[in-house]
Amino acid sequence: MRIDGQPYRSIWRDTAGTVQIIDQTVLPHEFRVIPLSDMPAAAHAIKAMQVRGAPLIGATAAYGLAIAMAADASDASLVNAFTTLSATRPTAINLRWALDRVSTVLRPLPVEARAAAAMAEADAIAEEDIAINAAIGGHGLAVIQAIADTQPPGATINILTHCNAGWIATVDWGTALAPIYKAHDAGIPVHVWVDETRPRNQGAALTAWELGAHGVPHHVIVDNAGGHLMQHGLVDLCITGTDRTTANGDVCNKIGTYLKALAAQDNDVPFYVALPTPTIDWTIYDGIAEVPIEQRAPDEVTHINGVTDSGRQARVRITPAASPARNDAFDVTPARLVTGLITERGVVEASAHGLAKLRPIAE
Ligand code: MRU
Repeated sequence: MRIDGQPYRSIWRDTAGTVQIIDQTVLPHEFRVIPLSDMPAAAHAIKAMQVRGAPLIGATAAYGLAIAMAADASDASLVNAFTTLSATRPTAINLRWALDRVSTVLRPLPVEARAAAAMAEADAIAEEDIAINAAIGGHGLAVIQAIADTQPPGATINILTHCNAGWIATVDWGTALAPIYKAHDAGIPVHVWVDETRPRNQGAALTAWELGAHGVPHHVIVDNAGGHLMQHGLVDLCITGTDRTTANGDVCNKIGTYLKALAAQDNDVPFYVALPTPTIDWTIYDGIAEVPIEQRAPDEVTHINGVTDSGRQARVRITPAASPARNDAFDVTPARLVTGLITERGVVEASAHGLAKLRPIAE
């Protein structure tokens, strides 16, 4: 994607080979690129959400392992990097998937071959993520086109999305936003309702920033507005991302996704989830019981970050000082509420049967 006309990915290696990321904690108010100079910096970037979004967390973890191998490729260093990186965030399965993939390549290798092999595998994961998301965009475009075909010519298609599942949540393109970018580029008039996504405001800060940079019409809405807009016929479809999809099609995504799916079903609005197949956890079948839900710091709920009218970044408390808060970062939408899963291999039913078609090359 382009920022001020310059092509960017969310993670890349510069000409010296140093891994660089865009610090998402200061967007949209500041565009800051930071290097990942060592493995702890990569772990910190994931934990502090300088990078976030399931596919990008996976790619960053892969690079973190490669950076560790460049410094010390011993078995002990490999175990330490794997353990440290896998403990950063619990919910997105891509993290563990990427670490397993790189470690599987490294373990049989002699120590002196590991650094180059790890970096090559991390590069491959990043490149594949881009291709996967571009393919998701193509399949999702067909979904949007089919809905557009039911409307009068030139009618705007209103799409609601939650959190940020755009290019900044992946290496490029995004998952839920890839179909929207492709539809916009194909000349289908699309407009996006952007859930602000409290408490970290990934919608208000990141999705709105991305869509604006690409020229996609959108409005930021408060998290509780979606049901009301659906009741008034102002939403044609929902598309969200996911951090972990179970083998039977339950979808774990940013907290609040479930409520949007409930409202969508009550209003006959199609509810699609876009995902790369590495986001499928083939080992579990009951998302509510089995997906680990990240508990984040209560101060993300009690405080809010922003800029003042004079442009100064500020953090303010919005709750009584004595009121405790609870901060579950994700929820699970049962498969029965999902119209379809948009993957790089096509749109499948959110069911064990639908997902089984993806199993052979996804494992
Ligand atoms: O806590 P975050 O910002 O990492 O959560 C991200 C999401 O929930 C996204 O919707 C999901 O990872 C899909 S990203 C392509």
